[in-house]
Amino acid sequence: MTEALVIAIDGPAGSGKSTLGRALASRLNLQTLDTGATYRAMAALALRRNIELTNLDAIGELARSAVLDFDHGVRIDDIDVSEEIRSDAVNAAVSVVAANALVRSVLVAWQRDWAQRHGGGIIEGRDIGSVVFPDAAVKLYLTARAEERAKRRADEGQESIDRRDRLDSTRSTSPLTMAPDAHLIDTTELSIDEVVSAVMAMIDVARGADR
Ligand code: CDP
Repeated sequence: MTEALVIAIDGPAGSGKSTLGRALASRLNLQTLDTGATYRAMAALALRRNIELTNLDAIGELARSAVLDFDHGVRIDDIDVSEEIRSDAVNAAVSVVAANALVRSVLVAWQRDWAQRHGGGIIEGRDIGSVVFPDAAVKLYLTARAEERAKRRADEGQESIDRRDRLDSTRSTSPLTMAPDAHLIDTTELSIDEVVSAVMAMIDVARGADR
């Protein structure tokens, strides 16, 4: 394994990606990248600029020209959108923006560059193990029962989550999917400590295999 260790964490909304990512980051001394926030920031900017979400070229052009900065909160074109990206309006818009192939090509390049600049990382999203980092050292695919996921995302509401999951799984460009070599973990009944121990063991095996 090279020094740029990438751990890919994919899965649907509320499956536990961010909680696991944070726990692993402190143990592995790596930073986390929430790629969902890159799509959310783009959706927030499109809403601010009143660009029709279904206008693929206009949204693609916006993505090409926008400047993302995750070093101090979440900033896009010098606007701090850290809170705005969790709003109902962004929840409703993000999966439409994320289905745009032009947006995905810009953001995937930005995500790869981020990992390069940070010496790898714990990267979470929907297509990380399948598309963005197909050579990640360890790929995890988290799931949890629908009721449990909705409970974890009580603020957002079941309907909005179901809609995002449906759009994310059925879009033609990089749909939410489990890479064939990913480890499937159902977090419904597991404590965070149990998930972390299981994953740390997988990382040890992957590192051992590479020595
Ligand atoms: O935190 P949660 O799992 O609810 O969602 P998120 O990771 O913040 O992602 C928000 C949305 O961004 C998803 O519903 C997808 O539409 C999109 N997304 C994506 O298409 N590809 C990624 N790698 C990450 C997120």
